[in-house]
Amino acid sequence: MIAVAILAAGRGTRMKSDYPKVLHTLGGRSLVERAINSCALINPARFLVIVGYQGDLVRQALSHLDNLEFVEQSEQLGTGHAIQKLLPILTDFQGDLLVLNGDVPLLRPETINELLMTHKKHGNAATLLTAHLPNPKGYGRVFCDGQNLVTQIVEDKDCNAAQKQNHRINAGIYCFNWQKLAQVLPKLTANNSQNEYYLTEVFNYLEQVMAQDIPDYLEIVGINDRQQLAAAYDILQTRVKNAWMIKGVTMIAPDTITVDDTVELHPDVVIEPQTHLRGNTVIGAGSRIGPGTLIENSQIGDRVSILYSVVTDSVIESNTRVGPYAHLRGHATIGPGCRLGNFVEIKNTTIGAQTNVAHLSYLGDATLGEKVNIGAGTITANYDGVQKHPTSIGDRSSTGANSVLVAPINLGEDVTVAAGSVVTKDVPDDSLVIARAPQVVKSGWRRQRDV
Ligand code: UD1
Ligand code: CA
Repeated sequence: MIAVAILAAGRGTRMKSDYPKVLHTLGGRSLVERAINSCALINPARFLVIVGYQGDLVRQALSHLDNLEFVEQSEQLGTGHAIQKLLPILTDFQGDLLVLNGDVPLLRPETINELLMTHKKHGNAATLLTAHLPNPKGYGRVFCDGQNLVTQIVEDKDCNAAQKQNHRINAGIYCFNWQKLAQVLPKLTANNSQNEYYLTEVFNYLEQVMAQDIPDYLEIVGINDRQQLAAAYDILQTRVKNAWMIKGVTMIAPDTITVDDTVELHPDVVIEPQTHLRGNTVIGAGSRIGPGTLIENSQIGDRVSILYSVVTDSVIESNTRVGPYAHLRGHATIGPGCRLGNFVEIKNTTIGAQTNVAHLSYLGDATLGEKVNIGAGTITANYDGVQKHPTSIGDRSSTGANSVLVAPINLGEDVTVAAGSVVTKDVPDDSLVIARAPQVVKSGWRRQRDV
């Protein structure tokens, strides 16, 4: 049986932030949520999150996750002190305790499985992940004998010059035999340069403690400051983009592209430079996105092209072309085979198949049928200063350039709106509507000039 404890009570002084460190986000997800997600392959009997500094904020940020138990560490006296808080909670627990630092966000679930397997196989009192870092500054150094059995862990701040030469570091990921750990936890002292109760001191009292090296040290980077946060983002991005390229996605100049790990891409998608894909976005097969495009929480069909545009919370069906310079937001739903062109903004609007909105338009709170043609500069006047109102336009209708449709308004099917019209009343099917001042021409008229 396994219990998990996530250490998430610290302030994270080195972040220089008003928010708790573990709530800083990496690719749209908090560090602590990422640490929790790295347990995806195990099914723990208890899942404990130790909170303290702005604990309410941390609880709130994790409230969408089931089965978490929060443990309060109101004074943050160190990682050992945090785990001591579990003593009254896990009194009867028989099994192993997996401890994760809440500021280590890139650990793979498979790596945790391997740690647990080693732990079981050797019947260890404790097993911990270690790595050889090119730059081990800031990490605890792990000293082992020839059999990977740990003799000592010394924090960076407590290392002498010789100890600092050891590049084998403690990842802050441990598996403990809980009964054995519980016996030695009360022994911790704070005799160190930080006057903190270090969890790593328990290794002086436990027998046997084994270190397991992780080949890809990028998995265990801990986030203590903003530079490490940025570096971790790069690592995550490389991981995500490489995985999609292996699955058949082309990325042009991938260093200029960012893709959240919640995004789903299909084969033969081409992502052009300076494109950013975020949240729950799906891009269908053969679509070409970018350059210069931001897509967030949107579903894009197959063979869609989107150029220099921003699309959020929207749906675009297959074979539609968008941009350059279009903005779709607030639940725009665009049918297949449409064309949305230059400087077009579409908000909370549903558009049927093969409809064109090619230039300089705003459509808000509207419903358009199929094969509609929206002329350049057509605007739905959907807001009267107090409330939003709907517009509907039937199949095969077309609006002339610079039309204003004052909502609420319904245009039927096969309606033609003359250019420059301000349409304020409903128009039935098969009609032409002209709603503008008639042109006046006074022939032979010449301005009277002063003599
Ligand atoms: C810790 C380890 C170090 C290891 C490194 C890996 C100790 C003493 N040192 O150092 O050996 O190399 O992680 O990243 O454990 N926290 C609490 N309560 C506290 C203090 C901290 O919950 O009282 C939480 C923090 O929120 C954080 C985690 O524990 O998520 C680690 O704390 P941090 O202060 O960052 O430890 P490091 O100095 O990085
Ligand atoms: Ca840390």
